[in-house]
Amino acid sequence: MSKEKQVALVTGGNRGIGYELVKQLALNGFRVILTSRDPETGHAAVQQLKESNLDVSVMVMDVDNQESIRQSAITVNERYGRLDVLINNAGVYLDENEKLLNLEPSILEGTMATNFFGAYHVIRSFISLMEKQGYGRIINVSSEYGAMSEMSYQGVGAYKLSKLALNGLTRLVAAEIKGDIKINAVDPGWVSSDMGGPSAPRTPKQAAESILWLATIGPEGPSGKFFRDGKQIPW
Ligand SMILES: NC(=O)c1ccc[n+]([C@@H]2O[C@H](COP(=O)([O-])OP(=O)(O)OC[C@H]3O[C@@H](n4cnc5c(N)ncnc54)[C@H](OP(=O)(O)O)[C@@H]3O)[C@@H](O)[C@H]2O)c1
Repeated sequence: MSKEKQVALVTGGNRGIGYELVKQLALNGFRVILTSRDPETGHAAVQQLKESNLDVSVMVMDVDNQESIRQSAITVNERYGRLDVLINNAGVYLDENEKLLNLEPSILEGTMATNFFGAYHVIRSFISLMEKQGYGRIINVSSEYGAMSEMSYQGVGAYKLSKLALNGLTRLVAAEIKGDIKINAVDPGWVSSDMGGPSAPRTPKQAAESILWLATIGPEGPSGKFFRDGKQIPW
């Protein structure tokens, strides 16, 4: 690897776990691209991080919009010419306390669009930057709700299916990619963000700390696996 700073990109970096991932990557010496679907909240988040002299820049990317993803990949190639770490963090949780068959189908479609297809299109658009240098670390922020065993219990069906598919994508991509490129899924635990609510026991900072070891694993490190707190968990 060259001595140039490594470049990392986080989707949904303007708040919650994504914001902490950006902050900690920058504190650990990465040049970090904070992506946000909303320009204003993205700029505000980067401004706040820059006050601590962190090497962070903002890019607008809506993971529901393939053209927005494609344009971001072109810009990253032009500006940095590389991508070392990609974190698919952007996510929605739209069906708490609802049964799958009673849902408006648009809720399932919207959840799949962001949590599954979003990550799929982001990986598809950015993988060539990693293949170019034969190196990359991809982390998919999943959930314990995405484990197959969770499908035996009713409720939260749209979210569960989206994370189950994301876990499957993790394994399929791991089986396809060549070179020193690793992809893993991780459950951050129950986290006190807008999504997790105020009663959650874990802070976004703790969640980010439990995820980021996967950004710096060596060539012998895992790929196509699902982790929580550094331990492999059942799919
Ligand atoms: N919190 C938990 O307890 C928990 C547990 C397990 C897994 N997770 C997972 O952890 C990840 C982060 O969750 P969080 O708790 O930090 O949630 P959060 O506070 O609700 O933040 C979600 C982030 O995703 C972004 N986002 C949503 N749709 C997007 C889109 N179409 N394009 C780009 N960005 C989009 C949001 O942007 P806007 O600000 O523009 O809406 C926001 O930045 C998610 O994948 C979630 O499923 C969370």
